[in-house]
Amino acid sequence: MKEKPKDFQTKVVHGFKGFDPCTGSVSFPIYQSATFRHPALNETTGYDYSRLQNPTREELENTMASLENGKWGFAFSSGMAAVTTVLQLFNPGDHIIVSDDLYGGTYRLFEEIYKKYGIQFSYVDTGSTKNIIENIKTNTKAFFIETPSNPMMKVCDIKALCKVAKSENIMTIIDNTFLTPYFQRPLELGADVVLHSGTKYLGGHNDTLAGFLVVNNDELAEKIRLIQKSIGAVLAPFDSWLLLRGIKTLAVRLSKQQENALILSNWLQSNKEIERVYYIGLLDHEGYEISKSQATGFGAMISFMVRNVSMIERILNNLKIIAFAESLGGVESLMTYPIIQTHSAIPEKMREAIGVNERLLRLSVGIEAVEDLIYDIEQAINL
Ligand SMILES: Cc1ncc(COP(=O)(O)O)c(C=O)c1O
Repeated sequence: MKEKPKDFQTKVVHGFKGFDPCTGSVSFPIYQSATFRHPALNETTGYDYSRLQNPTREELENTMASLENGKWGFAFSSGMAAVTTVLQLFNPGDHIIVSDDLYGGTYRLFEEIYKKYGIQFSYVDTGSTKNIIENIKTNTKAFFIETPSNPMMKVCDIKALCKVAKSENIMTIIDNTFLTPYFQRPLELGADVVLHSGTKYLGGHNDTLAGFLVVNNDELAEKIRLIQKSIGAVLAPFDSWLLLRGIKTLAVRLSKQQENALILSNWLQSNKEIERVYYIGLLDHEGYEISKSQATGFGAMISFMVRNVSMIERILNNLKIIAFAESLGGVESLMTYPIIQTHSAIPEKMREAIGVNERLLRLSVGIEAVEDLIYDIEQAINL
């Protein structure tokens, strides 16, 4: 019988190899070893030193490549280590177009670290392909896109952008942290590099940091491998195992999180204290149609603006179930105040221009009973 390609929901559970062929261990082993013995001079088991390759990390990297429908996966000690690695592909004088609405830590890395090495950045609204095209310069070497963007949930038309990028010989890098390969696979839409903070939905339990890059191109993979082993910000064996374990439930977790997010965003929209809700699964979201055409789901990230700034303190101080904390994507719901947390590194003028103001909150919806989450926000508002 012809082999049936595995469904995504099966792939996440079974990983790449999935089990240990030597022992039959269903849980892939943690190879907690820094180095590996050589059988003889000029011989290797395929593993020499864990910064270069480690069997647990390799299983995770291959799993991530398979989930993104890519050829090569690379695992790093954090999402920022993955961003750092991809930036090392560029040279002084290169110009990169970046989403103006992005994780503040990425902005800080670009502005405070890479700018002094001569890399130039333009921050533009990447929810509009026309806008991106207008900002292309002769030295533009890459588009660095968060979609949906963080925290304003702007959606970039990945296919249209990649078409432009290919014709101009520009590399497209997509930060796919918010939707994960369960809902969106940018390489299939023409992107060159997919990036993740694995700390978020992939790990899924708010218990470890991780980052990923996935590519299809062999030459690009070689360059990334060289940078990965030279910089050395690799994911440790135990953290690799935590990620493998987290990924097993990615599909069920995200399905439930998305279900909760849709109910919650509708509820938020109907609350008189809330001025505006930003969730790409809402019919009136400007990115709704593009999202539907390029992704199979809308994820579980919601931002919302309260009418009165005094409501912010009341909500953050009185939530009981939802944690007031930075980060996103785990099973526990988290409420973030971007201006003082995730986006504090972004200058006020730029923040205000994109709508990240003192009345904006970001909610990462978890897998709790949605009635409890609604009750929690309601009691905080009405206290
Ligand atoms: C969209 C996005 N990309 C990258 C990062 C950086 O990842 P990490 O915190 O794992 O270094 C974050 C962190 O919040 C993020 O939200």
